[in-house]
Amino acid sequence: MEYKITSFDEKETIELAENFESEKFPNMVICLKGDLGSGKTVFAKGFANALGVTDTITSPTFNIVKEYYSGEMPFFHMDVYRIDEATVDIDFSEYFVKKGISIIEWSDMIADELPKQRLEISFKIIGENRRMLIIKPYGKKYEDLCEAVL
Ligand SMILES: Nc1ncnc2c1ncn2[C@@H]1O[C@H](COP(=O)(O)OP(=O)(O)OP(=O)(O)O)[C@@H](O)[C@H]1O
Ligand SMILES: [Mg+2]
Repeated sequence: MEYKITSFDEKETIELAENFESEKFPNMVICLKGDLGSGKTVFAKGFANALGVTDTITSPTFNIVKEYYSGEMPFFHMDVYRIDEATVDIDFSEYFVKKGISIIEWSDMIADELPKQRLEISFKIIGENRRMLIIKPYGKKYEDLCEAVL
């Protein structure tokens, strides 16, 4: 099953993130894939703001993982684009059981380390401000989530 949604501007992508946030559960994993500059970080920031994270969310490209604890639940923002250049060996599975929310940009780079149950969103640039989002739930919990949100 997959859902296709067109986002016509940044605000719509943020609203989608807010809608997913409103149905959050501990250990939720959201994997973001797709073109450079397509809106993955916009989505992650929108989600974090809705969660009540008060820190400034900066792209974790060079850190790989950033942890935020000021929101309603722990928020783990990962960007694994430069995973091969990183010297640290990160155990991602640890984050998926910390009762927080994990959002992973460029998740396909760590495909083997992703949990079986997860939400995947692929972003495609189809115009200056237009993005095609293909949303795929893996597992019952995430299927229910999509039914609630979409
Ligand atoms: N519909 C839209 N949804 C999201 N972002 C949009 C949209 N239209 C335009 N934008 C712009 O596209 C850019 C998306 O940047 P963003 O950093 O979120 O991309 P990214 O996918 O995280 O890139 P990277 O692969 O480098 O991490 C922003 O400048 C944002 O304002
Ligand atoms: Mg990004």
